[in-house]
Amino acid sequence: MSKFQSLTSMLKLLILGIILHHQQSFFLVQSFNFSFQSFVPGICDDSESRLICLGSVTATNGTLNLTPDESQQNPQQKNQIARVLFRYPVTAWPASFSTTFVLRILTNLTISGDGIAFVIAQDDKPSPPESFGSYIGILDPSTEGGILRQLAVELDTYKNEHEPDNNHVAIVTTSVQYPIASKSLNSTGVYLRSGKDITVEIDYDGWEKDLQVSVAYSGNPLVNVLSQNIVLEDTVPQSTYVGFTASTAYFFETHQILSWNFTYYNLSRKSLKHGVNRNKPRIALSIVVPTLVVSTLVFLYIARKRRNERHQSKKSDMEMLARNAANAPRLFTYKQLSKATRHFNKENLLGAGGFGCVYKGILLSDPPAIIAVKKINATSGQGEREYLAEICTIGRLRHKNLVQLQGWCHDKEQLFLVYEYMPNGSLDRYIGKVSLDWKTRYRILSGLASALLYLHEECGNPVVHRDVKPNNVMLDSEFNAHLGDFGLARLLQNDNFVNTMVAGTPGYLAPEVSYTGRATLESDVYSFGMVVLEVVCGRRSRGMMEENSLVDHVWTTHEKNELFMCVDPTLEGKFDGEEVRRTILVGLACLHPDRLHRPRMRKVVQIFMNPDEPLMKIADSRPTAVSLPLHSSHSDSTASEFSSNKAPAGGRGSMDSLPDEITVVFDD
Ligand SMILES: *[C@@H]1O[C@H](CO)[C@@H](O)[C@H](O)[C@H]1NC(C)=O
Ligand SMILES: *[C@@H]1O[C@H](CO)[C@@H](O)[C@H](O)[C@H]1NC(C)=O
Ligand SMILES: *[C@@H]1O[C@H](CO)[C@@H](O)[C@H](O)[C@H]1NC(C)=O
Ligand SMILES: *[C@@H]1O[C@H](CO)[C@@H](O)[C@H](O)[C@H]1NC(C)=O
Ligand SMILES: *[C@@H]1O[C@H](CO)[C@@H](O)[C@H](O)[C@H]1NC(C)=O
Ligand SMILES: *[C@@H]1O[C@H](CO)[C@@H](O)[C@H](O)[C@H]1NC(C)=O
Repeated sequence: MSKFQSLTSMLKLLILGIILHHQQSFFLVQSFNFSFQSFVPGICDDSESRLICLGSVTATNGTLNLTPDESQQNPQQKNQIARVLFRYPVTAWPASFSTTFVLRILTNLTISGDGIAFVIAQDDKPSPPESFGSYIGILDPSTEGGILRQLAVELDTYKNEHEPDNNHVAIVTTSVQYPIASKSLNSTGVYLRSGKDITVEIDYDGWEKDLQVSVAYSGNPLVNVLSQNIVLEDTVPQSTYVGFTASTAYFFETHQILSWNFTYYNLSRKSLKHGVNRNKPRIALSIVVPTLVVSTLVFLYIARKRRNERHQSKKSDMEMLARNAANAPRLFTYKQLSKATRHFNKENLLGAGGFGCVYKGILLSDPPAIIAVKKINATSGQGEREYLAEICTIGRLRHKNLVQLQGWCHDKEQLFLVYEYMPNGSLDRYIGKVSLDWKTRYRILSGLASALLYLHEECGNPVVHRDVKPNNVMLDSEFNAHLGDFGLARLLQNDNFVNTMVAGTPGYLAPEVSYTGRATLESDVYSFGMVVLEVVCGRRSRGMMEENSLVDHVWTTHEKNELFMCVDPTLEGKFDGEEVRRTILVGLACLHPDRLHRPRMRKVVQIFMNPDEPLMKIADSRPTAVSLPLHSSHSDSTASEFSSNKAPAGGRGSMDSLPDEITVVFDD
């Protein structure tokens, strides 16, 4: 109680102080604005101008034509994409903004499309190459799902599936198909394809995190059509570019911007203190509202600081020790992860795999970090302690071709693992779908081989991955491979649902594993061989048992001495023949049905790294012999011991390499 009183009196003093100090310009925000009353012809060709014009944008007759007008329309020119951006970056948060533009959409056809959008883009690059048609230049199939961090308000003139009609407005972040809000404009009386001038106003209130869209035919009072709560901090990077995108598909449709203004209010704490702009922005309604806002903020800030301080002192020993231990992954709270992933929002879902769902998250740390959070459900009553040893083991595995474990959280029977985020998703999204060039494919396979070599031979105790497949190979922004999900088999071994998952994935599973149920280093090599063939051939395997399986197919081409016939046709012959030949043969060697004849990862890596390294011996025709592993080889016994004994926490041999501080926790 006394704490609260002292806080309140402090607050009163503070408010008084502020008011006395800044009588006239109390509510201080930096602002800036720009305005285009019209667009001078040639503005797009002038590299000094305030606009960046990309794609089909031209400026004629005082208007910006994002897509060509009828007179310029070449019937062959379908699939136009346009993007025009204000040349200088805009700090998107913490900020409020307001933008007004007048647009005109021209067409003489009863069907046309696709529309125009106001965008807050992450960079000043052109629209993605496939973003014509219903993508309205915002994103394309390869950038769906959160690869681009942006916000778009689209005015859509074509009805696609999922859409209300051919006259609607929608707010798009990561997916055009699944906008976060959309609404028909019918209720406003505005018809986008009417050919009339339409005024659109978009306002974002950075305090309330509220985005409002209003429209009307120019000269008429604006009608509010959409209002959406959206946290810009979670949606776009801090430095952004604002502008417009538009697109067409089969039909001509001209998208013109006649005028545009944009006003921006900087809400950052620094500018609150030091701002000097005395123009009262529109959001400052009176002196009363801002006083309340500021005092609430100050109050919350102080209260939270107090609470944190109290919290700090009571911070669990576990957390402190885990954090202090060298290389130990960070312990997150459920709240932190929930906030980062917007309560495990469907929109943040990156994928679902054997062990659980993976969500994209943003940690509002300084600097903000993008993470991938794997949520593992229904862990069978194991507690934090049981996991900690294993997590530390996984956390210690560090290699440039592994997905680095950054942290974890155990809460409410759920285990969460936090990894670095891989912007290009997993390799399975590309095989047979999006063609990668040969150099990239070769780099991915070499990286994957290095990761396995590290796990098998270089990281101390050998680690059998058990589930090598394209879905577990993540690609960073430069398409380097990072193998994920290592160590999970062991981590979750006691959990009943895992046993079936741990065995591996059909199609990548070595034949002997189905007899013995035992994953080994050699069965990882087999799975790697399958990934090699899939990447070279651009086809998914359908398993050994299937006729016409990928392996059969490649063996057949090898037997007939026409190995290149199996290479992915989308490469169009653009590859280094010798590299491709060696890669396929390595793949076949790894896929040897007898595990004792498969190469070690060390040999595979040497072949990838050194063009002069001799290949292993390859049979001329497909081998069939399978020797059942009745007697384990040395390497096998260590590996399988390692992979099938889960000692109770604190009692296993490999614990000796755990940091001492951690073991102390178990003793209390
Ligand atoms: C826009 O900025 C100019 C200075 O660059 C300023 O004079 C003007 O008042 C500003 N307008 C608004 C609406 O903030
Ligand atoms: C240019 O503007 C004038 C006057 O507004 C109009 O008459 C003319 O049709 C326009 N030309 C084009 C190509 O839009
Ligand atoms: C509509 O556009 C087409 C193609 O640009 C053109 O050939 C035709 O004359 C136009 N029709 C009308 C009625 O303006
Ligand atoms: C809006 O009006 C158009 C034209 O009258 C109609 O085709 C469309 O279905 C309407 N949209 C909705 C959502 O009712
Ligand atoms: C922006 O443009 C609209 C429409 O032309 C106009 O009503 C408004 O006053 C302009 N705002 C600024 C700040 O220039
Ligand atoms: C907004 O304020 C921050 C902090 O003072 C500053 O770094 C940034 O440049 C400001 N942005 C604008 C557009 O004034």
